[in-house]
Amino acid sequence: MIEAQNLTKVFKGFRKSFTAVDSISFRVEKGEVFGFLGPNGAGKTTTIRMISGISRPTRGNVKVCGYDTILDNVKAKKHIGLIPETPGFYDEMKGIDLLCFYAEFYGIQKVERKRKARELLETVGLKDFMGGKVKTYSHGMKKRLALAASLINDPEILILDEPSTGLDPKGISLFRKMVKDLNNKGVTVFLSSHILSEVEQMCKRVCILSKGKIIAVDSIENLSKKIGMKTQINVFIDAEGITDNVLDVVRKMSDVLRVEKTGTGINVVCSRNISPAVNETLVRSGVKVGSIRVTEPSLEEIFLKLTGEQNES
Ligand SMILES: Nc1ncnc2c1ncn2[C@@H]1O[C@H](COP(=O)(O)OP(=O)(O)OP(=O)(O)O)[C@@H](O)[C@H]1O
Ligand SMILES: [Mg+2]
Repeated sequence: MIEAQNLTKVFKGFRKSFTAVDSISFRVEKGEVFGFLGPNGAGKTTTIRMISGISRPTRGNVKVCGYDTILDNVKAKKHIGLIPETPGFYDEMKGIDLLCFYAEFYGIQKVERKRKARELLETVGLKDFMGGKVKTYSHGMKKRLALAASLINDPEILILDEPSTGLDPKGISLFRKMVKDLNNKGVTVFLSSHILSEVEQMCKRVCILSKGKIIAVDSIENLSKKIGMKTQINVFIDAEGITDNVLDVVRKMSDVLRVEKTGTGINVVCSRNISPAVNETLVRSGVKVGSIRVTEPSLEEIFLKLTGEQNES
């Protein structure tokens, strides 16, 4: 659905030029919710502007539904719904009129325009405000309006640049539900977000960008495995009857880094998840095992590790 090849953006300054996006290539498949991550200034918004056909790549290209975003700009845009990082609206327009205006732009019939605009504004919780001018909307209300506006053309691809910032908890939950529902209906989602728990919840695959370059594109599971090899995994076991002898046996197991006593049992710190083997060892030693909880690296740890390594190099 999205195919970027050697996508590059160089900003020409007064004296020197700056490469904000440096020859990145990636593919987003149909039906995916694809996470796009990176520290401030990594080049995410610049990339999103090129995918959306707003900004011209300096080198390379990006295709959306097979259409080059520059050569086939209008066709590519027809398939895209975008929530920009900072949505800008005609402030003097009423919410409902603004959506009808966008609908007209996409060639939607007059009678259909109003029906669709109303329906979308209701869905995003702006039912009581649709007759008000956009300048009277709060920050979060504008964000909700942007969500409604991005859906007016029934896009096949939804591109979201930090959609949750500025939304209240109810708004965030509504937004996530809407995106999930759309994805279930086959809409492909490209999600850039600093809220890593949101990305973890919504995306299978992520791309991590740093200083304009891709440092990882993979499933969260695979990244977690790769990083897991470099970090520690905690296996918390609630159990009764753990003697010093048993502790020694567990300490000598392969991949175990150390064993700590906790109030209700032990924490086995290991280099990979060996919880089944630990369980077996404990049971064989006559220990009554209650529960086992494993904490593997979160997306936050993966992100910090990978972007941290980049900064060191
Ligand atoms: N119009 C511009 N002219 C010059 N430099 C720019 C321009 N737009 C962005 N940049 C630079 O390009 C780099 C990438 O910016 P971009 O907005 O893409 O980052 P980002 O990953 O979206 O960051 P954030 O998480 O803060 O939104 C930054 O160093 C920024 O200063
Ligand atoms: Mg940005």
